[in-house]
Amino acid sequence: MQANWRVYAVSLFAAIGGFCFGYDTGVLSGVLTMEHFIYTMRGRSFLTPLETGTLTGLLLAGCFVGALIAGQSAELLSRKRTIILASCVFMVGCAIQTAANGYAMMVVGRAIAGLGVGSLSMVVPLYQSELAPKEIRGRLISLQQFMITAGLMVSFWCGAGTQYLEGQASWRIPIGIQIAPGFVLAVGAIFLPYSPRWLISKGRNEEALTVLANLHAGGDRSSPIVNQEYNEIIQQIALERKVAVTSYLELFAQKNRRRMILGIFIQIFQQFTGINSIMYYAPRIFLQAGIAESSATLIASGVNGVLNMLATLPAVLYLDKLGRRGTLISGAVFMGTAMLLCGIVMGAVADVVYNEETGQNTVMLGHNQNASYFCIVMIYFFVAGFAYSWGPVGWVYPAEIFPLNIRAKATSLTTAANWLMNFVISQIVPIMLADITWATYIFFGCCCYIMTFCVWLFYPETKGKSLEEMDQVFDGPVLVYKQKRYNAARDLQAEEKGSIEDKE
Ligand code: BGC
Repeated sequence: MQANWRVYAVSLFAAIGGFCFGYDTGVLSGVLTMEHFIYTMRGRSFLTPLETGTLTGLLLAGCFVGALIAGQSAELLSRKRTIILASCVFMVGCAIQTAANGYAMMVVGRAIAGLGVGSLSMVVPLYQSELAPKEIRGRLISLQQFMITAGLMVSFWCGAGTQYLEGQASWRIPIGIQIAPGFVLAVGAIFLPYSPRWLISKGRNEEALTVLANLHAGGDRSSPIVNQEYNEIIQQIALERKVAVTSYLELFAQKNRRRMILGIFIQIFQQFTGINSIMYYAPRIFLQAGIAESSATLIASGVNGVLNMLATLPAVLYLDKLGRRGTLISGAVFMGTAMLLCGIVMGAVADVVYNEETGQNTVMLGHNQNASYFCIVMIYFFVAGFAYSWGPVGWVYPAEIFPLNIRAKATSLTTAANWLMNFVISQIVPIMLADITWATYIFFGCCCYIMTFCVWLFYPETKGKSLEEMDQVFDGPVLVYKQKRYNAARDLQAEEKGSIEDKE
């Protein structure tokens, strides 16, 4: 199908939601080290680990709840209006944070911004998947991940840039800036089209045909491709109406169970690659890997952010050629190997020093320059491996596998699973780093290898299939390697049935 520029423009615009996601999750790490911020929060020169943990954790908790609420809203109010609402909630949360006169106000602002980010993280990929021609669906949803990484990177450099400012501006500017993308999204989304699939599910078929024609055929309502897609959606919805899903429990009924489990686990796995151990604790990790000076650690983290963004581009360009399975499997092997090598070298070379005051272990690698460089390069490899594979596909896959009648509810659960695990990782990694040090990397390396195996065994390929064809994709055996034989048998059966009918 000839995709025109409009579908790219609409998907990229919606992906500003991803930018808010990345910026807001990234901005706090820099701000937390700023003297004026700490003083304004607590009137003293330090924050306790509990206070720091609450500020980080509450955003994630808000995201978890936001993702769940957005499922209902996307179904009832539409995907588009949910984007507008979520952006407004996000702006309110950011405004409260920017104006915060103390810890309590900051905590409230973080939680409210979280509601917005969580909703956006659920509804944007869903919206993109429903607009996309099947041939470039992976690419369009990957734009969301690209913008997440752009947000993470910009937040990092903003924090780095303003930390030398005198006074309150040092932290209020980086936090306040994010109101701008939120505003652009909230206002701009008013002009976005509704999802054609949502329109048809509400009986607004004429409007849906116009949207499909505008996005896929330059406005030509009689285009055969547009009509084929339109009819496929109508047929599918008629079929699904017979099995209307009303409660969340029904999502786990026989027909949907397999997809629910795969969708939830791909999101859990995405977090168990260990990506956020690096994203949240990079300065500490680079310090452990032997970069002693704080400016060097800062640069190492900054490079990390740029690399994360650039390495997402191959997914935007090639995900629809390489397919989801190959990308996930190769990415997991790549990341697992990098993590294992990093852990093994650290374990073999580093000194583990116990600090009696803090009761924590620290690995010291600084005395061995080669080992130190090696570990840093491995961490960069790991991040690049994530950026082209599990980063984007973790969001693409759940957004495309569910039937329309449960898509919004189902993706709200899968997204909530991602935020819950994000929270768990953010809480356990500092303990792991302080306790088992280099074995943290071995742990995540092993997780990546387990995921490789799970994807190979359980996750069918979805590239190039329309959303309406997913029933067929998931109709086969649970073990994917048996799928080929099953498909061949099914095709043969269909052929035989066809020829008998012809004779009659
Ligand atoms: C993940 C985030 C992560 C980010 C890093 C996203 O896909 O969901 O948890 O921080 O990628 O680029």
